[in-house]
Amino acid sequence: MRSPLAIFSKNVGIDLGTANSLVYLAGRGIVINEPSIAAINAKTNQVLAIGEEAKKMIGRTPQHINVVRPLVNGVISDFEMAQEMLRHFLRKLGGTKIFYNFQKAVIGVPSNLTEVERKSVEDAIVGAGVSKAYIIEEPIAAAMGARLPIEEPAANMIIDIGGGTTEVAIISMGGTVTSKSLKIAGDKLNDDILRFIRDEFKLAIGEPTAEELKIHIGSALPTNEKMEMAVRGRDLATGLPREALVRDTHIRAAIVKSLKSIVEAVKEVIEISPPELAGDILKRGMHMCGGGSLLKGMDALLARELGVAANLVDDPLTCVARGTGIAVENLPKYQLILDNPLRPRDIKI
Ligand SMILES: Nc1ncnc2c1ncn2[C@@H]1O[C@H](COP(=O)(O)OP(=O)(O)OP(=O)(O)O)[C@@H](O)[C@H]1O
Ligand SMILES: [Mg+2]
Repeated sequence: MRSPLAIFSKNVGIDLGTANSLVYLAGRGIVINEPSIAAINAKTNQVLAIGEEAKKMIGRTPQHINVVRPLVNGVISDFEMAQEMLRHFLRKLGGTKIFYNFQKAVIGVPSNLTEVERKSVEDAIVGAGVSKAYIIEEPIAAAMGARLPIEEPAANMIIDIGGGTTEVAIISMGGTVTSKSLKIAGDKLNDDILRFIRDEFKLAIGEPTAEELKIHIGSALPTNEKMEMAVRGRDLATGLPREALVRDTHIRAAIVKSLKSIVEAVKEVIEISPPELAGDILKRGMHMCGGGSLLKGMDALLARELGVAANLVDDPLTCVARGTGIAVENLPKYQLILDNPLRPRDIKI
């Protein structure tokens, strides 16, 4: 979709996440950071809002408006909407300049995608107006964004707790040695909280309220200060609005099972890694990123359960996007760790 009028050509790095999408403009930095959400008029199929604006509509729409997330667990589930969202972000970047052309894009994908799923990401990007798409595994992009020495023959351990997936990977010499992708991350915690409040308080709350509870009073381990928050929802018995006071202990009880699964996944990845690399991890620690790693005490929980230091990277929510940006700004250097679009590929269906 190269415009014949295009005189400026730009390269971008993209983190198309389940919860948030970020775009890094080469030479500039992160220029788009918005929720991966779209609102559509179901009668006309018209897109009403994308990103932040659409997020505000969750749980507050009339029947004919659907608020959708085009990605589920890091994978595109609604191709048309994912492409529309990408097109919207790129168009926003172009601003009023119509003489814009997006030439190359490096985009992060979960490490365990099938060829068909990868191809669908490539197609979505190309369809949104980029000439050439390069795929990078998200944990590698995260490690690059965190400025870890991924090319060294030593273990760099990444734990990316996002919205839809938790990706755990050990990276050495520019490649993934062992990895695991788990469909339990921030969004599952919101769901755990929503169910807990429904079952224990007989109160129906929406997902945004569950997320607020998680962020404000949620923690992976008991904290010194007692925290509480008043929430409003619909009483399941009377059907009327009601307020309830929720404490940090409730949130911990709600999310404990999911947190245990995350700890188990990290443990498994360490267990199957070669002994030399396990030694490196002990020495260098684990690096946590993604929004879910911001849960209070998550680093302490992992460190306690695994006996390895857990460090939160700087700016954990933008780490993957910054990694894709570094890759797109230095394409020749990172050619080998990117999926080359020119390479003939086996497409298994
Ligand atoms: N302070 C916080 N405490 C706990 N959770 C948080 C905090 N801030 C953000 N989150 C959670 O982080 C998640 C979003 O993280 P992130 O943007 O890294 O996901 P994503 O990259 O879009 O998803 P994925 O990588 O799974 O496709 C959401 O579930 C959000 O609730
Ligand atoms: Mg992510």
